[in-house]
Amino acid sequence: MLRSRAIAHSNIALVKYWGKRHDVAADLNLPAVGSLSLTLDALRTETVIEPAEADAFALDGETARTAEAHKVFAHLDRVWTAAGRTAPRPSCAVASSNHFPTAAGLASSASGFAALTMAAAGAFGWQTDRGTLSTLARMGSGSAARSIFGGFVRLDRGEADDGSDCRARRIAGPEAWPVRLVVAQTTVGRKTVGSTGGMQSSRKTSPYFGAWVDSSPNELDHGEQAVRARDFSALGAVTERSCFAMHACMIATDPPLLYWNGVTVEAIKAVWAARADGLPGYVTIDAGPHVKTLCRPEHAEAIADRLRAVPGVTDVLVCAPGPDASVTVQADAPKASEVAS
Ligand code: PMV
Repeated sequence: MLRSRAIAHSNIALVKYWGKRHDVAADLNLPAVGSLSLTLDALRTETVIEPAEADAFALDGETARTAEAHKVFAHLDRVWTAAGRTAPRPSCAVASSNHFPTAAGLASSASGFAALTMAAAGAFGWQTDRGTLSTLARMGSGSAARSIFGGFVRLDRGEADDGSDCRARRIAGPEAWPVRLVVAQTTVGRKTVGSTGGMQSSRKTSPYFGAWVDSSPNELDHGEQAVRARDFSALGAVTERSCFAMHACMIATDPPLLYWNGVTVEAIKAVWAARADGLPGYVTIDAGPHVKTLCRPEHAEAIADRLRAVPGVTDVLVCAPGPDASVTVQADAPKASEVAS
């Protein structure tokens, strides 16, 4: 086993994923719909893995909670098995640091599981393609499959029962189209209903879940076409349609999944008012109250100022497209204990 260090950047879906396939093993974590995302430069996780006496997981310099540690060790087992190793997996010390500015208010599971997957493959001396690494990252967190790649990324739903065709692929690299995503934080608290439980609940109870799933393939194709054509207003339009269709499905869940707060609504309206004033921006919102606005670079600061002026917005961050996840093995990788928070 080698010492390795990986860096992966977070991503935000422009065409959303919500819901899991339930005709297959839950451990595969297969989505009911595909998704299309933008990887972000400003938000990244760095993970170091090195040989150890016993498995250990430190997050931002502190020993992680038991449940989190178990997920990490189970993921190491997955990568070890996928690499075709038959001997018992060697014990690993894993140290992970999230470099997320406070303005983000975003979950780190996407970059976290992408970095862990890359670092584990490196530590186990396994060289494979990014598509395969994406299928593994997906088993840790659906959105993590997309963070293996930089720029604009499509994650296909796939049809195979073993999940082998549910893998992300690059649509356009980070340099190909310099858009911006303005992240407005509307609260400092954490979300109350996690995505896995929320997705199950929507599938079981939302009368709109079927319509949401049925509408997705078309929207994905529209999103991909808009990226390939560099058609900003077409991408913006599909981004908002997908966001509000997902939230309609969530809100119609019983009990309702209303992830927004009052500031979320005011921030949406501020973006729409800016658009009417000639500052084109399009909103997207995940399983939380923060508002992310897709815009062109030349409008990003003016849109950020509009959002800062909304009472209750606590911070605003402008993100550019981010790179592929990367891994370095051995020589120039620091010791796990050297990765500061
Ligand atoms: O992969 P998860 O469990 O973090 O779920 C992501 C769900 C959304 O953020 C709401 C949408 C998406 O496609 O990222």
